Amino acid sequence: MEFENKVIDEKRQGEALLKKNIPGAKKKMFLESYGCQMNFADSEVVASILMNEGYTTTDNFKEADVIFVNTCAIRENAESRVRQRLQDYKKVKKNNPNALIGVLGCMAERLKSQFLEQEKLVDIVVGPDAYRDLPNLIETAEGGQKAINVILSKEETYADITPVRLDQNGVSAFISIMRGCDNMCSFCVVPFTRGRERSRDPESIVKEVREAFENGYREVTLLGQNVDSYIWAGGGLKKEILTEEQRREAVTFAQLLEKVALIHPDLRVRFSTSHPKDMTDDVLYTMAKYENICKYIHLPVQSGNSEILDKMNRGYTREWYLDRIAAIRRIMPDAAISSDVISGFCGETEEQHRDTLSLMEAVRYDFAYMFAYSERPKTLAERKYKDDVPEDVKKRRLTEIVDLQRKHSEERTRQGVGKVHRVLIENESKKSATQWSGRNSQNTTVVFDKGNFKKGDYVNVLATSCTTSTLIGEVVN
Ligand code: SAH
Ligand code: SF4
Ligand code: F3S
Repeated sequence: MEFENKVIDEKRQGEALLKKNIPGAKKKMFLESYGCQMNFADSEVVASILMNEGYTTTDNFKEADVIFVNTCAIRENAESRVRQRLQDYKKVKKNNPNALIGVLGCMAERLKSQFLEQEKLVDIVVGPDAYRDLPNLIETAEGGQKAINVILSKEETYADITPVRLDQNGVSAFISIMRGCDNMCSFCVVPFTRGRERSRDPESIVKEVREAFENGYREVTLLGQNVDSYIWAGGGLKKEILTEEQRREAVTFAQLLEKVALIHPDLRVRFSTSHPKDMTDDVLYTMAKYENICKYIHLPVQSGNSEILDKMNRGYTREWYLDRIAAIRRIMPDAAISSDVISGFCGETEEQHRDTLSLMEAVRYDFAYMFAYSERPKTLAERKYKDDVPEDVKKRRLTEIVDLQRKHSEERTRQGVGKVHRVLIENESKKSATQWSGRNSQNTTVVFDKGNFKKGDYVNVLATSCTTSTLIGEVVN
């Protein structure tokens, strides 16, 4: 009898430990993320939900009870990387047959139950709007059944869930301000994997940012697929049904940005991604007004040719885009600008490709993410156009784009030499344990000797030399 009681007590104690997430709690989760910053932010929501259930995190998937991979579906190679990684995880099952493997995020949403059929050892499949259901899904899987929830929501923003920061530096945090995307760019799978666009209540955003600041964070990046179309009219009303008056009184992205900037002058504010068709001068003036809003805009162009842009369904022309660039330069002459570029979209001619190069010459981006077009199932482009630019041509065009960008990045970095930069210290330099690494407002990495400074400090650094994308200097506080 006594013995039995002890067993029950131990079990209860175990459950209590699990519930409170005290070290010694039994279940361990391993969580790996691929894809964009939004996926990384989502993983922090997932970690929060599971830690509430008593899980602790581990860096070693071999000792995990549940292995989750938060996946990306944006290009074919993003998906192949995940499939390869699943092979590693599957080996864990040999030693620990009770371990569960779960696939989260965009690839889970795209493939749905196909995933369970194709990848026999996957136990759980969860789309980006169904993370609240994870505890139930795990329970189902523990009972030996396959578990899946890929329902997309028009409302879910996880506004009330305080994310568990999984980053290592404790200085910069990602804050999701909206979910989904309504744009339907013809090449893009995101509207299918993340569902309809919806904005998050600004109060919950400000609260989350304030808490991060109080916990020592000094930089936040506000995240959305198209931050310029952020709008909050109270109660989460959909923007399609707003009356004129509700629209006038709604919180716009420029206003949200201001609210966040006002939290504290020592808090840096960044955001991503801006959309050229929606980026207003209001946002630019707000950026210019507040020193702590970083002077950096990621404004993906995709192509420099208006006909291709039209086929991409981007909603702007080359001229419109260049006008937005001119507005940035006029309102914030010191701003850095970066872009995303796609080479070899359906039907792209040599001349149209050269328009992309000439646009890059005109803008001289500080930085760019560059990709060869990868056809995605179900997208408008897949249904409407032929993916007819041969792989080797796509690659050659991409190389030309990358080479030109390298030249521009180098040029832009070199312009920073000889100047003093206000830098937020984020990490140890990758190359030297005696140096710190941080970024200036324009998002350029700056490295310098550690001195007596610590992570989260602001320092003024005189740049004395540079590599392609990094400034090297000394503190001149
Ligand atoms: N919401 C952002 C981008 C999200 S996806 C925006 O509108 O700009 C990030 C980038 O991946 C895109 O800007 C695009 O350059 C690239 N991308 C998206 N789909 C792609 C595809 N099918 N093939 C190649 N690149 C793609
Ligand atoms: Fe994709 Fe276009 Fe939406 Fe960006 S704006 S996520 S490219 S559909
Ligand atoms: Fe990838 Fe999904 Fe982000 S497809 S880029 S993880 S929104």
